[in-house]
Amino acid sequence: MSNLIEGFLGKSVEGKKSRVPAKLDYWQSATGLFLALFMWGHMFFVSSILISKDFMYSVTKMFEGVSFINGGNPFIVSVAVAIVLTIIIIHAGLGMRKLPTNYRQYQVFRTHMKMIKHEDTTLWFIQAFTGFAMFFLASAHLFIMLTKPETIGPFGSADRMVTDWMWPIYLLLLLAVEFHGSIGLYRLSVKWGWFEGDNAKETRVKLKKVKWGITAFFLILGLTTLAAYMKIGFEHKAQAGQRFQPTAMIKNIDSTNSFQSLSKMDNTETSFRTIVARNFSGIHFQGKSKIENTEISFRASVARNFSGIHFQKKGA
Ligand code: HEM
Repeated sequence: MSNLIEGFLGKSVEGKKSRVPAKLDYWQSATGLFLALFMWGHMFFVSSILISKDFMYSVTKMFEGVSFINGGNPFIVSVAVAIVLTIIIIHAGLGMRKLPTNYRQYQVFRTHMKMIKHEDTTLWFIQAFTGFAMFFLASAHLFIMLTKPETIGPFGSADRMVTDWMWPIYLLLLLAVEFHGSIGLYRLSVKWGWFEGDNAKETRVKLKKVKWGITAFFLILGLTTLAAYMKIGFEHKAQAGQRFQPTAMIKNIDSTNSFQSLSKMDNTETSFRTIVARNFSGIHFQGKSKIENTEISFRASVARNFSGIHFQKKGA
């Protein structure tokens, strides 16, 4: 009965208003804080490509749990994506409460915004707009990360941007997420009074400067990262789909294992196939006719496929 009264009148029998809206606001802030901090980490991990392809590869493998599972398992990444996606859905659902729901509400807001010309109100509009855009942009990205985590890597990610034409989505998503995230953090600080100090007005001015600094930093980092993946994607276009082989693996094979002396391997097609297949996943031999069963042709065929492998002279 009391629920019914509150449902109709918006107040409980004791005349109190519900605490639910405050709780929803709290959860909107908490999920937003988590996502903003997650994005900082995400941008640093993705930008590992700026150091080297090998470094980005090792970051990818780290997230696949290579330190406790032999070779790593991309499913771990899917689980992480599912968690982030769930938090995004909760955050977006809570955020929707604040959006104008019809043209009249939108018109009132725009008129108000233009009239008072207060920067924080304009920032709110940017945040609502970028949040709406991310419903679509982030979903496209996260669906791919969820269903194809094994394609993440220096070549896979670069191919996705160029050959699969994801770069326009990434560009828009980057702009949306950087503005949305840094404005969100600024608004959280103001709303909950973090860092307020003795002079709240002065703090706001400082916070706003920090906010623009953070936006600029992550936009420059993100755009440079996007450019780096695109460069690799264009260079790799002809071999799109081919997986990256870390240099350390190739060097290791070069200096220790297979090719140091011919006595270590049988000069037969099968043994070469086995050695190469063991060391290089993702490589498929095309057919017997293409490979002659001689040492020279095997050397030539392997050298053609794997740059960085050098054969040593017999007995060297
Ligand atoms: C656990 C969840 C996530 C994973 C595993 C992930 C992974 C990645 C990876 C591997 C890339 C490189 C490109 C590629 O492989 O396609 C990338 C790029 C990007 N991601 Fe995510 N991502 C996640 C969540 C998000 C979220 C929630 C957002 C924003 C709403 C986002 C925004 C971006 C943007 C903007 C880029 C392009 C970066 C740049 O151009 O510098 N990601 N992400």
